Amino acid sequence: MTFDNVSLFPMGSKLSENGTLTVGGCDITNLAQKYGTPLYVYDENTIRTMAKTFVKEFTSRYESTVVAYASKAFLTKAMARIANEEGLSLDVVSGGEISAAISAGFPASRMDFHGNNKTPEELIYAVESGVGTIVVDGFHELNLLNQLASSREIVQGIMLRLSPSVDAHTHGHTTTGILDVKFGFSIESGESTTAIRQALGSTNLDLKGIHFHLGSPIFELEPYSQAIDTVLDYLAPFRSEGLNLREFSPGGGFAIGYMRNQPPPPISAYAEVITSMLIKKCTQLGFDLPKLIIEPGRSIVGRAGVAVYTVGVIKDIPTVRTYVSLDGGMGDNIRPALYGSEYEAVVANKMTVDTGHEIVTLAGKYCESGDILVKDVSLPTLESGDIIAIPSSGAYCLAMSSNYNMNPRPAVVMVKDGTSQIIRRRETYQDLIALDV
Ligand code: LLP
Repeated sequence: MTFDNVSLFPMGSKLSENGTLTVGGCDITNLAQKYGTPLYVYDENTIRTMAKTFVKEFTSRYESTVVAYASKAFLTKAMARIANEEGLSLDVVSGGEISAAISAGFPASRMDFHGNNKTPEELIYAVESGVGTIVVDGFHELNLLNQLASSREIVQGIMLRLSPSVDAHTHGHTTTGILDVKFGFSIESGESTTAIRQALGSTNLDLKGIHFHLGSPIFELEPYSQAIDTVLDYLAPFRSEGLNLREFSPGGGFAIGYMRNQPPPPISAYAEVITSMLIKKCTQLGFDLPKLIIEPGRSIVGRAGVAVYTVGVIKDIPTVRTYVSLDGGMGDNIRPALYGSEYEAVVANKMTVDTGHEIVTLAGKYCESGDILVKDVSLPTLESGDIIAIPSSGAYCLAMSSNYNMNPRPAVVMVKDGTSQIIRRRETYQDLIALDV
């Protein structure tokens, strides 16, 4: 049996004979009972299938592609191990991400370290850990990194992050490729020219290639081709100055479905537009084909994750709104409050109830009126104790979670073929004060 918004849930999600939601062969209502709520459930098969899909769709069109999972979307030791087993590289953005991945056995040599203001401590840690590529984002970093590498008598592999002045039409908070952003060396302002020359002249830095990232999530294909076109045209003259473009990265940003009526392009469409433009421009300009590095985060884990909550208080304001309060909220998913992000929701224990639907607003438990997870959603009549499941919750929810109001963060469970395993335990009150001295 299937249900309306099944395409937003992890692959293979179904209805049980009792009319409840199952993910990865596990009944969500049983998981809620066993592990408590709020709970994040990840389906391992979906994560692995997405990883394999990226590898296949890109390498079948462009053999020399490396898929680097953007770990900022969701990182636990279990996730780092899956990325490693799938042969992915890792995009990391902090010493913390490097450390977590190393602790899971992920080789530092397959990490690309991003960030607009990496601290000296983070750079030292990355260099000494053997991080393969540091994606340099500013002049201060360029100088510092050359000194750090020189004093250790090593040559550090780097890419330069450029900002190509291409608008990918994402939310203003997550657009990164335009002129007015904190990220990267701007082509338009001319600072990228200075940066490339300085990098080429830095004896302890090996400039392997060029990176840009336009934003996230990007529902359009055109910005990728436009940016590849612009950046390669711009880079061509630097070959006579010694630029050898061995690696090229158009970043990540591939969209996923949050709402049924806003489907993203398939991975194959992103792959087609990126690889065909790269091949076309390299051929036209006489570049050898560089290694292509793509950095999907959301699109690897977004669909794999389901947030599970229990209904508590129901407040009906006649003719105005019915607030249904859940036991999680903005502490585990800040995206609606921060970006106005929209989600769908289902009642995991009432999946086949098709009478008595009401429009309700799913609110969180945090002390802010803006703590709303889903506004105006049509659901079967709710009672306290019902289990709400919100799909497309695998990326940037837990990753951006907080202990606001001193609420412990949810537990995380990985499901696969009917079995469930806790991969991150629920925080305790003890954890909340563990760092206080
Ligand atoms: N590469 C770079 C350099 C990035 O900055 C990012 C995301 C990615 C790759 C991965 O993008 P993805 O494939 O996941 O779209 N918190 C926001 C998203 C911020 C993305 C930051 N950078 C959200 O919840 O929508």
